[in-house]
Amino acid sequence: MVGGKPKQMRILGIESSCDETAAAIVENGQTILSSIVQSQVDIHAQYGGVVPEVAARSHLEVINPVIQQALDGAKLTWDEIDAIAVTYAPGLSGSLLIGTLAAKTLAHIYNKLLYPIHHVEAHVYANFLTNGASNLPSQQPHFPLLALIVSGGHTQLVLFKNHGDFTLLGQTQDDAVGEAFDKVAKIIGLPYPGGPSISMAAKLGNPNKYRLPKAKLKNKYDFSFSGLKTAVLRAVQAEVGVDFTFPSHQLPGLLDEVQQQDFAASFQYTAIETLVDKTVTAFNEFAPASVVIAGGVAANQTLRQYLKARLPIDIDYAPIWLCTDNAAMIAALAYYQAQSQSPIDPLELDIQPSLTMTPIAQRS
Ligand code: KG4
Ligand code: ZN
Repeated sequence: MVGGKPKQMRILGIESSCDETAAAIVENGQTILSSIVQSQVDIHAQYGGVVPEVAARSHLEVINPVIQQALDGAKLTWDEIDAIAVTYAPGLSGSLLIGTLAAKTLAHIYNKLLYPIHHVEAHVYANFLTNGASNLPSQQPHFPLLALIVSGGHTQLVLFKNHGDFTLLGQTQDDAVGEAFDKVAKIIGLPYPGGPSISMAAKLGNPNKYRLPKAKLKNKYDFSFSGLKTAVLRAVQAEVGVDFTFPSHQLPGLLDEVQQQDFAASFQYTAIETLVDKTVTAFNEFAPASVVIAGGVAANQTLRQYLKARLPIDIDYAPIWLCTDNAAMIAALAYYQAQSQSPIDPLELDIQPSLTMTPIAQRS
């Protein structure tokens, strides 16, 4: 916080970077007054993944009603909103454009402060929401804070010294862990999105049935999941007795339910163990005061259990609806960003589809 007392702020957050259209109102970076998430998952499920053009069109159809529902849910008028925060990076261009265009227009019309928010950094801030709904963490995390960010597009370990002041310890060199869940689900014939369907099937499977490799990398905090995905593919081919030229979309038809469950459990075990091993190593090296997990894969119960069992400090997990994409995390981060950063002129805001997380001191 600069200048002592933090500003009091009610912020409307807007999120549209991938396949969820979301709006939320958060007070002082901590209290959820409303949170609306309109998921497109059913629309994309028939294609087995997110189709960017379809996502952008769906955002356009629902963005205004979703924002209005957030205001109605909080029983607030525009006069009672201090600022608007919107995801401008990273994500699908067409999807980001719809949210930022809505935010720019509303900030201009209603004369509100506007804050551009980085989606991946915002995932961490789901853990700062402790009031306004049930089953939220009992207190906010403390700095230094170790964050394992695991989503469909990102896998990274980040050490926060303070708000906006962080070091990237490591990240994936190829696929994100959520992407690996989605791709492995496709290989073994489980529905999209793969994270929830693999974790469900894994409950009934044997995690030690198939031995799968863990990647070894130069930086001990980096990740790699593409080799694990290929190892699952090869193991499935071997199990059903075909070679690598066999069309992969025909593989699920050759697996029985038990094999499918064993593959789901063995893959999940290896992926989660990799995440937990590196988080524990980082914990031992940096002795953070708090550890949080963030992003869609943080919804995984096995990850939650393993991490809790392996760390000597308690973890207060955020509820699942705050781990997957939402706008409350966007509004939460904006509050802390607003303490030290100026708002942006709505006419100057552009999307940055592939921008990595950058500490405030290094932002241009
Ligand atoms: O954070 P998120 O909602 O969107 C991105 O920013 O990517 O994360 C979506 C990812 C998907 O890959 C989905 O399969 C994964 O999170 N996911 C899970 C679970 N629930 C969602 N992965 C593992 N276990 C889960 N229970
Ligand atoms: Zn996300």
